[in-house]
Amino acid sequence: MTRRFLFVLGSARPDGNTERLARRAAEQLPPDVEQEWIRLADHPLPDFLDIRHDGIVGAVQPTENDTIRQLLDATLAATDIVIASPVYWYSLSGLTKRYLDYWSDWLRVPGADFRATMAGRTLWGVSALADDEPVVADPLIGTLNNSAAYLKMRFGGVLLGNGSAPGDVLKDTEALTRAKTFFAQDTPLARFPTP
Ligand SMILES: Cc1cc2nc3c(=O)[nH]c(=O)nc-3n(C[C@H](O)[C@H](O)[C@H](O)COP(=O)(O)O)c2cc1C
Repeated sequence: MTRRFLFVLGSARPDGNTERLARRAAEQLPPDVEQEWIRLADHPLPDFLDIRHDGIVGAVQPTENDTIRQLLDATLAATDIVIASPVYWYSLSGLTKRYLDYWSDWLRVPGADFRATMAGRTLWGVSALADDEPVVADPLIGTLNNSAAYLKMRFGGVLLGNGSAPGDVLKDTEALTRAKTFFAQDTPLARFPTP
């Protein structure tokens, strides 16, 4: 199967550090790897409604909504999903979190076979943060790792870069070096952390 990377951009501003770092990493992908880039801010998802237990069979959010359908189809078509979210309050941005909330609903979309389709595919993370201590991004990394484990996906880890104002990350030479080989790494099946 041809590899197809979906880059889900979750920053609340265009051309920020996260996107720039993700583009640096993506430059290294071989030309036969397909790439799709979606900026969530340009495709606003409606508020997520949790009506799983209201007795409705199948999808609960309106999949006739173009944005939801586009994101669902792009997600199902990707062998590799790259969550490119800045660190907001130590975790994912709100835009990104909302996209992940929809995964819960897509498990119930008739015919989508979301759980079976995602199993064995790879989740990656790219993120930027202002703090000098990368350890503060552990909640973001844990969220992505555990989400991948829940869906029996592979997990490629999170490429972290430092920066506050847009473009700062281009001064983080260690992150730029890591970006060169990031997508060439092994991607083991994700596991929940052991107590
Ligand atoms: C709402 C909000 C919350 C943030 N929370 C954190 C944080 O918890 N830790 C941190 O190091 N930086 C935090 N930042 C700074 C951003 O992570 C930083 O500016 C990053 O470079 C933004 O990435 P972007 O340019 O891709 O949007 C926050 C920024 C915003 C707007």
